[in-house]
Amino acid sequence: MKTQVAIIGAGPSGLLLGQLLHKAGIDNIILERQTPDYVLGRIRAGVLEQGMTDLLREAGAGARMDAEGLVHDGFELVLDGRRERIDLKGLTGGKTVMVYGQTEVTRDLMAARAASGAPSVYEAGDVQLHDLQSDAPYVTFEQNGERLRLDCDYIAGCDGFHGVSRQSIPQGVLTEFERVYPFGWLGLLSDTPPVNEELIYASSERGFSLSSMRSASRSRYYLQVGLEEKVEDWPDQRFWDELKRRLPERAARRLVSGPSLEKSIAPLRSFVVEPMQYGRLFLVGDAAHIVPPTGAKGLNLAASDVSTLHRILVKVFHEGRHDLIERYSPIALRRIWKAERFSWWMTSMLHRFPDNDPFTRRMLETELDYFVGSLAGRTTIAENYVGLPYEPIE
Ligand code: APR
Ligand code: PHB
Repeated sequence: MKTQVAIIGAGPSGLLLGQLLHKAGIDNIILERQTPDYVLGRIRAGVLEQGMTDLLREAGAGARMDAEGLVHDGFELVLDGRRERIDLKGLTGGKTVMVYGQTEVTRDLMAARAASGAPSVYEAGDVQLHDLQSDAPYVTFEQNGERLRLDCDYIAGCDGFHGVSRQSIPQGVLTEFERVYPFGWLGLLSDTPPVNEELIYASSERGFSLSSMRSASRSRYYLQVGLEEKVEDWPDQRFWDELKRRLPERAARRLVSGPSLEKSIAPLRSFVVEPMQYGRLFLVGDAAHIVPPTGAKGLNLAASDVSTLHRILVKVFHEGRHDLIERYSPIALRRIWKAERFSWWMTSMLHRFPDNDPFTRRMLETELDYFVGSLAGRTTIAENYVGLPYEPIE
C-alpha cells in the first residue's frame, strides 16, 4: 500500500486532518486500533471554539453541528455560592463558543470520510513506524492476521496520549513536561434538562463541580473527587446529592436528576512534549499534550494543531515548500503552552487541593475574586475561553 500521509488514530485529530487533506487533494490513509463503535463510545469534551467550528465546516463536517449545536454567549463562575457571569460575547468583541459533544464531532467526521471514499483501516493491530528520519518512511500493521506495509511521505501521529507514535521517537529526543493533579473528575451523562442555560463552573468548600450539557434534554455533570474514589462507590443518587450541595441554592433547586447513561472517573493531568516533530513524523493532539478539562481546551488544541499541520502540508505537497516542515512544532507549541497555562490556572483556582495551607487557599480565593471583579480580569478569562487566535504559518 502507498499513500502521501499515513495518519495513525481515528479520534478527532486524525479524522479532521484526514478530511482537510483529502479536500486539498492529498491522499491519506487512517490506521485505527479500535472499532468505529468503540471510538464513538467514549464520552469526552463538549465545548468548541470558533476556530474549531470553522475548521469543521471547511472539512465539510459542520452541517449537523450548525443545526443542532448550542451557541453559548457566556458561562457562569460560582465562588462559594456567589454567581458571576463571564460575558464571552461582550468581552471579546462578539466571540462565542459552540456546545456540541466530541462524540457527535467524531460521528460527523466519520460520516464525511465515508462519503468521500477516503480509506480508513479500523482494528489495525501492532502499528509500528519505521525509517522516520529517511525520506521514505513506512508503517507496518496487522489486519485479519496478516502483516501489511504502508509506504508514505509523512506520518501524522494522531493516536492520543497512549498511542505508539510518541513512543516511536528515540529516547533523549523529546523533553516531557508534566503535572499530575491530586484529584479526578467523576462525570455523569443523563437524559435530563440542564440545570442552567449556560455552563456553571462552581468552586465550593466541598470541591469543584461543572454543570454542562449536550442538548436541551441531555446534561453532563462533573464532580471533583479524590484519586482513591471508584465509580462503584458513586451510585446515581449519591452523585446527585453531592452535586446539589456544590451548586448555589437557586440552581440546586432547579436540578433535575435521572438515571445515568454513562459515569466515569478521569484523572487530571497537564502534559506537553517538545518538539512535536521528528523527521517525517508529526505529533498531533493528545499524542503530544494533555490539559486538565477545566478550561475545555483538549479538543480545541487538537483542532489548532490540525489547522497548522494541514496548512503546512498543503504547501509542502502543492508548492514544494519543504522548508515549512520545521515550523509545525514551534507554531503549535506557542498556542499549546498558552492553553496549558489557562487550563492549569482554571484548575488551580476552582478546585480544593488537599495539601494547600490556609495562606495559599486565601491567595487563590483572592486571585479569583480579583479576576472576576475586574474588567481586565474577566476579559482575560473570556479571551482564553473562546480561544486564542491561530498563528499564520508564514
Ligand atoms: N494504533 C492505532 N491507533 C491508535 C493507537 C495505535 N497504537 N493507539 C491509539 N490509537 C487510537 C485510539 O484508539 C484513538 O481512537 O488513536 C485515537 C486517538 O484519539 P484521541 O485519544 O481522541 O486523541 P485526539 O484525536 O488527539 O483527540 C483530542 O481532545 O477532548 C480531548 O482528550 C480528548 O480525545 C480528545 C482529544
Ligand atoms: C463537557 O461538557 O463535557 C465539558 C464542558 C466544559 C469543560 C469540560 C467538559 O470545561
